[in-house]
Amino acid sequence: MEQLLNKIEAYKNEASSTVATDTKTVEEFRIKWLGTKGIVKEIMGEMKNVAPEKKKEAGQLLNEFKQFVEARYAELKDANSTTEHQTSNIDLSLPGDELPIGSRHPVTLMRNRIVSIFQRLGFAVAEGPEIEDDWHNFGALNLPEHHPARDMQDTFYIQQNPDWVLRTHTSSVQIREMEKGNLPIRMLMPGRVYRNETVSARSHCFFHQVEGLYIDENVSFADLKQTLYFFVKEMYGKDVKVRFRPSYFPFTEPSAEMDVSCFICGGDGCNICKKTGWVEILGCGMVHPNVLSNCGIDPNKYTGFAFGMGIERPAMMKYGINDIRLLSENDVRFLKQFTSAI
Ligand code: PHE
Repeated sequence: MEQLLNKIEAYKNEASSTVATDTKTVEEFRIKWLGTKGIVKEIMGEMKNVAPEKKKEAGQLLNEFKQFVEARYAELKDANSTTEHQTSNIDLSLPGDELPIGSRHPVTLMRNRIVSIFQRLGFAVAEGPEIEDDWHNFGALNLPEHHPARDMQDTFYIQQNPDWVLRTHTSSVQIREMEKGNLPIRMLMPGRVYRNETVSARSHCFFHQVEGLYIDENVSFADLKQTLYFFVKEMYGKDVKVRFRPSYFPFTEPSAEMDVSCFICGGDGCNICKKTGWVEILGCGMVHPNVLSNCGIDPNKYTGFAFGMGIERPAMMKYGINDIRLLSENDVRFLKQFTSAI
């Protein structure tokens, strides 16, 4: 027993002073001490030489020794796994690769700007489908079949179904909102529209609009003008002048087009305003009573105004873009220039 005790003590000292500096020496330690032919196994074999009355005590000692060696092994293993990280070539303190930050499309920036101005007046946003039926794009808007005004907007028809078109304006969403019958309505309809026009630097076969609709009792042309005055002031600054010209749209009566004094030349005349000093920015008018009744709204009780404007042209003026096609080519070198909010 005395002998066993001394042996254990000597082994403990040896195990504690053994060092391992990498995974290989840690494994050597395991094999030497804890392997099937290792020291712990060997010394366990000594049990058979212990006198029966001492077996209990010896068993405890041996178990304790085994645990001691196992703990030492875990310690060495631990120490070496951290050293491995430190000595490998990965520098965990290096900053990561920067992710490229995208930018918003100039059309989106301009759309958001227009929408946010009207939102301050309590307008909510409504959206609708880009493939429309004839009724929502034309019929309900007081443009019956064969009406000559349908030619004002060159329409793309869908081959499979002659009743379907690519919407030529977001007025179709106005109809959808009115049909819901939740009055009053104070809504904006931004979205993409399609017209069969020759693609050039100035016009494209698809573009974007924001239309607006306000319907309640006693809405007048004066409300329309004040709303648009507010918009122009917020959008182009308080010094910009506004004029309304009488116009014609089948869905509004009376109808008007609104010009603002050219914000490029200040009204003196330049290329943008074609030397007139004025830039046309939107069409508007009082919703035609036929349109109201088409949507189940009583025109004797309710009146309303509507307006619609393109987004591309103001965006092009704001950013000095001289070709509308750039806006849909998605060339990243072009698009990444528009990082700032407007
Ligand atoms: N829908 C018209 C267009 O696309 C714009 C408009 C909307 C005009 C509402 C008057 C009233 O040209």
